Amino acid sequence: MIKNVTVVGAGTMGNGIAHVFAMNGFQVNLVDISQPALDKAIKTITKNLDRMVKKERITSDEKNNTLANLTTYTSSAEAVKDADLVVEAATENIDLKLKIFKQLDELSPAKAILASNTSSISITKIASVTQRPEKVIGMHFMNPVPVMKLVEIIRGYSTTDEVTNIIMDLSRTLKKVPVEVNDYPGFVANRILLPMINEAISALFEGVAGVEEIDTVMKLGMAHPMGPLRLADFIGLDVCLAILNVLHQGFGNPKYAPCPLLVNMVTAGKLGQKSGEGFYRYIPGTRDFEVSDVFKK
Ligand code: CAA
Repeated sequence: MIKNVTVVGAGTMGNGIAHVFAMNGFQVNLVDISQPALDKAIKTITKNLDRMVKKERITSDEKNNTLANLTTYTSSAEAVKDADLVVEAATENIDLKLKIFKQLDELSPAKAILASNTSSISITKIASVTQRPEKVIGMHFMNPVPVMKLVEIIRGYSTTDEVTNIIMDLSRTLKKVPVEVNDYPGFVANRILLPMINEAISALFEGVAGVEEIDTVMKLGMAHPMGPLRLADFIGLDVCLAILNVLHQGFGNPKYAPCPLLVNMVTAGKLGQKSGEGFYRYIPGTRDFEVSDVFKK
């Protein structure tokens, strides 16, 4: 039975994952090497819970219970010592993830399941640095985690049926819809999403249409909540590039080669919403944005 959950990484995904587990009655230890990142995560979770109270989705008692279920740590050793499940949501960098999993394997109880929220790094590869590859699995939440229903559950080469079933059931307890997939580059979500985003960037690069035109076509024509360029900014252009590189290298197929415009934007530090500018420019302190100057006609 899973009761104690440790979430590693207090960024956008980590705080959303911690929020959802804590709101569903789990004891959550949230760990990050940066105390300011932890403080920011608790502030974000509190703000999102306040919004839910205001909309009468939860009561203020439920908000308080959720916050009471959360404890923050700056050291993994203390945070994982009683964990039944560890969910890693650190930066999408393979060397970092391998280092974290090696350490988590040494520090966590032998019974603990080790999950990664990776968006594209091989679960089999991550599992290979642990002594428990059968208990390593992908739990890929979507951003914003409290809102999005899907959890993509990725079975590594050695992940057992038992562990997969525990994590599928657990996801349902979180009121999410789990979908089981196998461990191949990009899994399913990003194997399909990122080529679409890359194609939208190529259409912009080739001058087929402007930023707003491309996004409007996909929003109003395909009923997507955000156009692909706005979504790329929301995901982070560095994350989009990293996923495309995994697809390109993993399949060796040129159809996945990242558009040179995406590469240039990441090199220039234009990473999308988090850096204040990508295809759009985000007005600080507001929810407003407009097409970046470079893409204005
Ligand atoms: N945390 C909690 N709740 C949030 C939130 C957040 N960060 N952001 C928005 N919400 C809630 C709002 O409170 C609102 O709730 P109600 O329905 O109860 O009113 C609801 O979400 C809708 O929000 P808004 O009205 O503010 O804004 P919106 O209608 O424009 O929706 C959105 C925002 C939910 C983000 C929507 O635009 C959307 O679904 N966009 C697409 C998101 C998407 O595709 N995500 C997947 C990205 S890919 C990924 O994550 C995987 C990967 O590996 C790259």
